[in-house]
Amino acid sequence: MVNSISEHSETAKYIVEGERRLSGEVKTQGAKNSALPILAATILTGDVCVIENCPRLSDIEAASDILRYLGCKVEMDGNVMTVDSRELTGCSIPDNLMREMRSSIVFLGAIAARCKQASLSLPGGCELGPRPIDLHLTALRKMGVEISEEYGFLNCKVKGRIHGSNINLSIPSVGATENIMIAGALADGITVINNAAMEPEIVDLANFLSSCGADIRGAGESRIIIEGRERLHGASHRVMPDRIVAATYMAAAAVTQGDITLINADPKSLGAVIPEFIEAGCKIEYNDDTIRIIADGRLRAFKNVRTMPYPGFPTDALAPLMALATVAKGNSMFVETIFENRYRHVGELRRLGANIKVEGKIAVVEGVERLTGAAVRCTDLRGGAALVVAALAAKGKSEIYEISHIERGYEDFDKVLSSLGGRVIRG
Ligand code: EPZ
Repeated sequence: MVNSISEHSETAKYIVEGERRLSGEVKTQGAKNSALPILAATILTGDVCVIENCPRLSDIEAASDILRYLGCKVEMDGNVMTVDSRELTGCSIPDNLMREMRSSIVFLGAIAARCKQASLSLPGGCELGPRPIDLHLTALRKMGVEISEEYGFLNCKVKGRIHGSNINLSIPSVGATENIMIAGALADGITVINNAAMEPEIVDLANFLSSCGADIRGAGESRIIIEGRERLHGASHRVMPDRIVAATYMAAAAVTQGDITLINADPKSLGAVIPEFIEAGCKIEYNDDTIRIIADGRLRAFKNVRTMPYPGFPTDALAPLMALATVAKGNSMFVETIFENRYRHVGELRRLGANIKVEGKIAVVEGVERLTGAAVRCTDLRGGAALVVAALAAKGKSEIYEISHIERGYEDFDKVLSSLGGRVIRG
């Protein structure tokens, strides 16, 4: 019997019936965190771009809303997004659109480079804690973008043209690296990014920009060199598979002692994640674009999962693996080193019966024999996905509220899990 939490607003919810083994095949969706900067970068071309394997997500809709607001024509047909940025009519993003998605800051470099001016409201914080943008602003200022911050807006002006610069990032920030690459692609001269983020999404963005005629070397390493071009042209690009969604489905299979195969996946981008599943006792087989995970019997705990910038363990995969740890044999330890507050979902996991202690950035999970269904509430995107993973293992039914968090990043999450034998109904 699930006692629903009455104070929850009338948002959609998932009703999950636990203890059903997942098996079968699932096609991995395109990567949200690659598609978003690529959609922003289409503005640079003043042409038509076709983005394939684009996931159907609310964050992608938010990016499309921004592109349309700027004057682009945007069409989405299945997973193919066509963006025509030949006629821009604006260079500002209003507060309501900026607040829809925290990563809208990645539009700043693209608008400033194309329009020589930009006006964006300051991005909201997010559930993970303060999300400063100082590295973005410092770098773009060095590249000749004059930025004033007043009345909650960033007002930017470029005298002449953005110019290349030597940028040293104090943190290998993914978003800042992306903004600099995008602005540098149309800059006058050479931009060097030292201590650049090395995530696979950075490489995917570089591949897209190169197909538009940009000259970018070193993406995926800690030094990226961009030789600016006068103009870029449209291109077609297939977005890379989403490695965090893949890790989430792997956790869902493992927690139900299942056997699933992820197709259109990218095992190379999960170099720090796959060994954790193996250490927990899963059997993993993979080739270039498929990953099979088999888990029979109760898994072992994760000794010490420490999140790090790529190629370290990704912070976004912490929550789904923590959900798996709640029913593993023994104690697991997690250390979050990227965000202030990656543990907001822990209280909700405890409602399902998890035994988790959090001390600052460290969380210790004592595996329990069994979770029991409950009514729980999503606190953020990956924390919400973790609640679904845990509910799949729990005895009885769970109601998961405020799933709009999850639908920012997981395409058809309920349908996919149901197709694998789970019972997840969107209510
Ligand atoms: C990207 O966020 C991802 N989002 C995040 O995924 C991911 O967790 C993060 O990279 C780390 O891998 C997208 O790609 C849309 P950062 P981003 O800049 O770019 C600090 C998800 O669940 N920082 O690499 O915002 C920052 O506070 C999301 O899909 C500054 O101090 O991450 C954080 O502590 C969540 N100043 C650290 O750097 C800045 O100017 C890493 O942030 C920028 C960042």
